[in-house]
Amino acid sequence: MKILVTGGLGYIGSHTAIELINKGFNVTIIDSLVNSNIKVLDNIENITGKRVEFHKIDLRSKDELYSIFQKNIFSGVVHFAALKSVSESVNNPKLYYDNNVGSTENLLDIISSRKEKINLIFSSSCTVYGQAKKLPINESSPVLNQESPYGETKKICEEIIQNQTIKSENLNAISLRYFNPIGAHESSLIGELPNGIPDNLVPYITQTAIGKRKELTIFGNDYPTRDGTCIRDYIHIKDLAEAHVAAIEYLLKIKKQNFYDFFNVGTGKGLTVLELVKMFEKINNIKLNYRIGDRRNGDIISAYANTKKVNKTIGWHAKNEISNALKTAWKWELKLHSLDDN
Ligand code: NAD
Ligand code: UD1
Repeated sequence: MKILVTGGLGYIGSHTAIELINKGFNVTIIDSLVNSNIKVLDNIENITGKRVEFHKIDLRSKDELYSIFQKNIFSGVVHFAALKSVSESVNNPKLYYDNNVGSTENLLDIISSRKEKINLIFSSSCTVYGQAKKLPINESSPVLNQESPYGETKKICEEIIQNQTIKSENLNAISLRYFNPIGAHESSLIGELPNGIPDNLVPYITQTAIGKRKELTIFGNDYPTRDGTCIRDYIHIKDLAEAHVAAIEYLLKIKKQNFYDFFNVGTGKGLTVLELVKMFEKINNIKLNYRIGDRRNGDIISAYANTKKVNKTIGWHAKNEISNALKTAWKWELKLHSLDDN
């Protein structure tokens, strides 16, 4: 069965491609390489023993995208391709609407012109909930107006995908609202490749530990939480990748038309920034240089998932320890460092 993975050389896409291949799916990857490296393709092969079909295409180029659908019959599409920096989206909103929404519109137009039934999984984010009133956050929690254009593109894409499933006879879809993915593949052959100074916590921690950054600033310790630092639901990248396989398998079994649903993907457990930092130090036997700084603009206090819906409906559960994700993240940073040295 053929699955198209857009943005498949990126962080989550590459880990998902591996899980799909390991489950016997025939994977084709499209990526523009705007935020990824072609070497990831070789490393997917090194891990799985399979050479994946790859096309360097920007999804905004509709004709090129269309030609891939003319040459293949896909049972599923996992749509990761998007830009993901909140701060960049604030500085350049047009780029985010063009790239993230434009790509999704092209993909949907092409799917609607096809005869075969296509099952689509869309990468959404817990960011759509903003600061939820009730924790843990379940799927009935309202989707708020977004503070950043990035968040707005996730909200819009969810809406246009849902609308398309209502109109079309050949599209069923699921949006997965990820909480905070961390960690790398156990082989250290693939992992997160942040561009420049990382915005996200774990790459900042590992880059500080390796000496690439002087110190980690913890953004505020005066929040109303157990130690004053913000709470997030960190999820092991392997678990997140497996959630996509489970979601595709679930959609493949659905006989009815016009199916659309959305699910939280997290562990259901919240950790504070300080708890995560201490866990990193303990599991990797490292002393991290950090200080408490000011709050970061736009940060929500606490977000962790109620995962009952995805657990019950799709049968997926997070299995891997967060401490293991922190171990793999550190091994990955060491690997990147050894490559830098050569
Ligand atoms: P990533 O940047 O590592 O991967 C995205 C990939 O898409 C990259 O390889 C990039 O080159 C490619 N891409 C971007 N625009 C493209 C286009 N127009 N055409 C073709 N390829 C394009 O990011 P990621 O962390 O793997 O995120 C994957 C998806 O998950 C994104 O949609 C992101 O918004 C979403 N998401 C990520 C997180 C997270 O914390 N990483 C959380 C919630 C949601
Ligand atoms: C960020 C994005 C969100 C996206 C999510 C997953 C913002 C405002 N939100 O969320 O849209 O869906 O990533 O990719 O950028 N922290 C520090 N020091 C650092 C970095 C982070 O203390 O150097 C803290 C943050 O204040 C936060 C926690 O660590 O409390 C996690 O931060 P981060 O990894 O950026 O994820 P989110 O803020 O959840």
